[in-house]
Amino acid sequence: MLHDVEAVVLVGGKGTRLRPLTLSAPKPMLPTAGVPFLAHLLSRIREAGVRRVVLGTSYLAETFSDHFGDGSALGLEIEYVVENEPLGTGGGIRNVYKHLSADDVLVFNGDVLAGTDLTAVVDTHRRTKADATLHLVRVQDPRAFGCVPTDDDGRVTAFLEKTEDPPTDQINAGCYVFRREVIESIPEGRPVSVERETFPGLLSSGARVSGHVDVAYWRDMGTPMDLVRGSADLVRGVAPSAALPGPTGESLVLEGARIHPTARVAGGTTVGRNVTIGKGARIEGSMLFDGAVVGDNARVLHAVVGAGARIDESALVSETVIGDRAVVGAHCELRHGMRVWPDVVLPPHGIRFSADV
Ligand code: GDD
Ligand code: MG
Repeated sequence: MLHDVEAVVLVGGKGTRLRPLTLSAPKPMLPTAGVPFLAHLLSRIREAGVRRVVLGTSYLAETFSDHFGDGSALGLEIEYVVENEPLGTGGGIRNVYKHLSADDVLVFNGDVLAGTDLTAVVDTHRRTKADATLHLVRVQDPRAFGCVPTDDDGRVTAFLEKTEDPPTDQINAGCYVFRREVIESIPEGRPVSVERETFPGLLSSGARVSGHVDVAYWRDMGTPMDLVRGSADLVRGVAPSAALPGPTGESLVLEGARIHPTARVAGGTTVGRNVTIGKGARIEGSMLFDGAVVGDNARVLHAVVGAGARIDESALVSETVIGDRAVVGAHCELRHGMRVWPDVVLPPHGIRFSADV
């Protein structure tokens, strides 16, 4: 148990990739499998035995503290530290330095869903007497991430953030262990990228930077489709979390939802509070936010349906994001990455892929 380790969670920055998914919450607070996304990460931190968590943000602290408070309901002590202007990942870590007292500090990107054994990451850090240790995972396309090659001893040899020509499929998973003094050495009071400045700087100064590679569940929640897949994994129990407000299964149905007995709801769908699902509708691996309405025989497949949005009779939304309160008219067909902005109303038959009606 990691009683002697503190955690820092980065939840600031611009985070624009999900917009405009919904206007109702900033990304770390978006309901994901029934609770704010961040609650899943906090539950894993708690399960590893860490007590103290510092949230480093550039948003209003109330965004988080209104929900998590002092953390005692989660068995944590949470402190909130706000940047006056976004300081980047490294600047955000440096900005919380004076709130830390442990020798080893776990730092998390707040938008990653992972099943990593945190104790094992800290063990690697201590065993290799590292200045910093990075959790690394292998992905199919490393170009959107920090590419991190290691040598036979598990020593990190380079850090290449978002490179077009990655030399390995091993990437930065967004979870680090730092010796506290290393955090102190990050320049204060200006934006710093931990990926582009701090890690390359540590490597060129000869610091020991270790990699901890594993094959546990891992997903970056950067895009809406990552979010919808991650949410379904949480509901089905594929992604571990102690914060799920119900048993794992094909669907998570929150209070006040009304689902017609002939509707089929599966694939790790979250049915939000007071959602209505009509006769013969089919919902697969989707997120239906509070108060959404799905009409008779409509199909919602791997999609996000915003709060109060309506998918009318026989419409199809597949791999799309429907903003809060938007209306997808009867028989519309929306597919493959489309996004409907909040409050937009598509008339019946207004947009289709096929000619038949
Ligand atoms: N406090 C604070 N201030 N946090 C920030 C800031 C800031 O100015 N900028 C970004 N963050 C937080 C984000 O909220 C997020 O939780 C985390 O830092 C990473 O920032 P992203 O903007 O999501 O970066 P990314 O997803 O493109 O890439 C990062 O994550 C990948 C893994 O998911 C990098 O660390 C990559 O190297 C890594 O592979
Ligand atoms: Mg990210």
